[in-house]
Amino acid sequence: MQLDRSASSRANDLKVGQGTRVLVTGASRGIGLALAELLADRGATVGLLARNAADLDALAERLPGEHVALPCDVADRAAVEQAVTSFIDQAGGLDLLIANAGIAHYGPFSQLPIERAEEMTRVNWLGTLYTVHAGLPWLLDRAEGHVVVVSSGAGLRSFPWAAVYGATKAAQRMFAEALRHELSGTGVGLTTVYPGEITTSLHDHERESLPDWYRPGESVAPEGLAVKIIDAVERDARDLYYPAIVRLLRIMHGISPRLGDRLLRVLRGGTSAPRID
Ligand SMILES: NC(=O)c1ccc[n+]([C@@H]2O[C@H](COP(=O)([O-])OP(=O)(O)OC[C@H]3O[C@@H](n4cnc5c(N)ncnc54)[C@H](OP(=O)(O)O)[C@@H]3O)[C@@H](O)[C@H]2O)c1
Repeated sequence: MQLDRSASSRANDLKVGQGTRVLVTGASRGIGLALAELLADRGATVGLLARNAADLDALAERLPGEHVALPCDVADRAAVEQAVTSFIDQAGGLDLLIANAGIAHYGPFSQLPIERAEEMTRVNWLGTLYTVHAGLPWLLDRAEGHVVVVSSGAGLRSFPWAAVYGATKAAQRMFAEALRHELSGTGVGLTTVYPGEITTSLHDHERESLPDWYRPGESVAPEGLAVKIIDAVERDARDLYYPAIVRLLRIMHGISPRLGDRLLRVLRGGTSAPRID
């Protein structure tokens, strides 16, 4: 495929509202739930994808409008393909695809069971790959629509005790960065999201063993992020940093990792960058 530079100004002009068909992975809690609620309030038809079927049925029942529960493990490629096809059949198409599902296991890498590392790799990275691979052809066929990839600030500057989590988030970032360019001129847009610490259930299983630099008291509510994500989609924004300090981290780390380390020591203390070189 040749990239069509002349057509690169052809951004998607998706307006999210009544009748927009949106598939959200990880829709039952946290950021995905905030997105599902916002989208339903705006009149969208939402494909609610997560593993727990009972959670999804209850959510589909509670949200205003008609929605589709899609119980599925994003680490299972065939199941993802089936879920995407099922949503398109039931909703009559797909306009917006949000690859959000993710998990985290923090701890020193030397003590991290390799199975945990494999699980994060399968869910965060392969799950994103499978989701986008299954949904993108439908968007390209219609030459319109949008993809959102929820990465992390940890994909911009990886943190101690989160080496594998950060690696999976960086994989999403690099994938999305190239794909946005490949989609130039196709009518399909792509936005990568880099959240900082958001108040969700992501770390509920490991609250007692989080690193010192992790500051739950400074985390922000997912509802504000959901509003920003939909706004970014409608603007066909390349990326979204939320809260805004995440962008500063990207800039500082990009100029010099030492500068990034200094910023983090000020913001998060010595455990965020213990090695001084
Ligand atoms: N919270 C933060 O501070 C933060 C910061 C940066 C980036 N992020 C990213 O934001 C995304 C959403 O995280 P969150 O904080 O909202 O987490 P969360 O509250 O734990 O929600 C995770 C969602 O993903 C679903 N999920 C987990 N594993 C899955 C799998 N294998 N297949 C399908 N669905 C799965 C969960 O439902 P089931 O368990 O029922 O499957 C749930 O709906 C993740 O990619 C995370 O890395 C979060």
